[in-house]
Amino acid sequence: MSDEAQLEARLEEQDTFDPPEAFVEQANVSDEGIYKEFEENWPEAWERAADLLTWESEWEEVLDDENEPFYEWFVDGELNAAANCVDRHLDGRGDEAAIEWVGELGETRTYTYEQLHREVNEFAAALRETGVGEDDIVTLYMPMIPELPVAMLACARIGAPHSVVFAGFSADALAERMNAADSETLVTCDGYYRRGDALDHLSKAREGLADVDGDVTTIVADRLGDDADSDIADDEHVYAELVADHEGATVEPVTRDAEDMLFLMYTSGTTGKPKGVKHTTGGYLSYAAWTSHAVLDIKPEDTYWCSADIGWITGHSYIVYGPLALGTTTVMYEGTPDYPEKDRLWEIVEEHEVTQLYTAPTAIRAFMKWGPEYPDAHDLSSLRLLGTVGEPINPRAWKWYYKHIGNESCPVVDTWWQTETGGMMITTLPALGTMKPGSAGPPLPGVSADIVDAGGDPVEAGKAGYLVVNKPWPGMLRTLYDNDERFIDEYWREYSLPERDQWVYCPEDGAKLDDDGYITVLGRVDDVLNVSGHRLGTMEIESAIVGVEGVAEAAVVGGDHEMKGEAVYAYAITEDEQDETDAFREEIIAAVEDAIGPIARPEAVVFTPELPKTRSGKIMRRLLEDIANGDDIGNTSTLRNPDVVDDIQEKVE
Ligand code: WTA
Repeated sequence: MSDEAQLEARLEEQDTFDPPEAFVEQANVSDEGIYKEFEENWPEAWERAADLLTWESEWEEVLDDENEPFYEWFVDGELNAAANCVDRHLDGRGDEAAIEWVGELGETRTYTYEQLHREVNEFAAALRETGVGEDDIVTLYMPMIPELPVAMLACARIGAPHSVVFAGFSADALAERMNAADSETLVTCDGYYRRGDALDHLSKAREGLADVDGDVTTIVADRLGDDADSDIADDEHVYAELVADHEGATVEPVTRDAEDMLFLMYTSGTTGKPKGVKHTTGGYLSYAAWTSHAVLDIKPEDTYWCSADIGWITGHSYIVYGPLALGTTTVMYEGTPDYPEKDRLWEIVEEHEVTQLYTAPTAIRAFMKWGPEYPDAHDLSSLRLLGTVGEPINPRAWKWYYKHIGNESCPVVDTWWQTETGGMMITTLPALGTMKPGSAGPPLPGVSADIVDAGGDPVEAGKAGYLVVNKPWPGMLRTLYDNDERFIDEYWREYSLPERDQWVYCPEDGAKLDDDGYITVLGRVDDVLNVSGHRLGTMEIESAIVGVEGVAEAAVVGGDHEMKGEAVYAYAITEDEQDETDAFREEIIAAVEDAIGPIARPEAVVFTPELPKTRSGKIMRRLLEDIANGDDIGNTSTLRNPDVVDDIQEKVE
């Protein structure tokens, strides 16, 4: 066997990996006692997280659990998130890079903390002048351009919560989120580059605005210059002009209560309507900073890179708030990993001497498929730690990442968490935990999780059950915007345990517990799909499909997909007079893209005369999933219409 083949064979066999010694020696958290400390001193131990921030006034109480499950953290503490992410670093790190932005076309822009401070102040002043007041929700519909984090921090500075809408979402999705949040200010841009092409973003934003209630103030950043399709209209503000009008302005950071809203983030749930997850200033920021410190091992002198999009929670917590709260350099990349070549990420790691990389399993699967020659062509020795998030990672992909990107000398943290949790919840600590590819690890210190059955009783080790979180944590969502009732319905169950009745948080993920206390997350147990690490609601997609004239009924399920993890499979029943043509299929696909965006594009649309239903009339999604996957479908005797299964199977084949 060649050396290479021997190495592969050894990796293949190896089930556990210990943290590399060189990493352990320099790690932020390397004392095993941390778990015990949190256990014995809970909830006060969470002060460790809050102590990473600068407070204007200290909290009176760490946790107020009087009105469960409406927990409050760091009660009566006061702070400003922008002051924590920018101002307090000016003295020590004013000339150091806060953001290193890499555009798709290869240009770079560096913002030192000094420059970031200046931009944030100027834009904060501009926002105020356009009428944004404290607690007004500002929608940011922007791609990965530096104006996005600047705008987020400007909002935080004046106490106006932001609601970032992923730029890949459609006009309809934008309108729905703006209306739901009663948002009357929109910051967007003319467009951005994708694989070298200039994409028109402004037309999409305008189309969405047409459906927004109320009088909206629109601010448009210029990304494309002469490549832009349309000029900025008279009733739209030009970002650069507004900022220029406020050159040198300073805006005193608004004092915010720990429990004041920092931002809203809309995410998919089981019903057709996205949920407005509310995060707070004190608890969320403490949690983002603490997990960045303890799990990503971020230090001020690092050049840290999370390749997510800021339009999702991962980008909020681990491109913007966590890293900047710690005063480090955070890298931000506009484009795709395979443009202009498949080594783009490795080129950036080499050029910027990136020390930590945090990415998604779907990307790692793509790198694997492209082959090791792309990373091999670059010097990646600056890397010290690797992380993944967004979906379960299979051991093969984990090992590939560990070997080909980390050169077997970087710990890999597989971090389980959600939009709602604000930050990481289940993962090994990189200097402490033995790594077990495929298993996220134990809950973080201070986080308490269990695997239970449908009745709330713990299931045996090794058996699959529902993941639940038993204690509150500072980064948790506080409610769903304007909907406390749905917040309780969707996330909380009151379990009667022998000692006491207890509220538990239900993330809607399946998982199993290993003997060593590690948790292997299996995936969603509700009607939410995870496509390339993006969260999509089947109901949202279904309602777009039944909105197409000629469709009588639809069901959407997730099928296994080699690269995307899951892909959208749509089954549609057409009305009698509707021809089931390819053109009609395209019409359905277009409707989904219009309602949500290209990320929700169905992999296949299958026309079927009926959907498999139980005797009580419920669609058997599980069965449709099995059909999509070509799996054995087992017993169908509980169906009202078992014959339909053969029919659909034939069509899928
Ligand atoms: C899934 C993204 C397995 C999970 C931060 C969760 C994961 C959903 C992991 C949340 C992981 C996230 N292992 N599954 N390491 N990380 N998930 O809200 O199903 O976009 O419920 O937050 O992603 O997705 P969301």
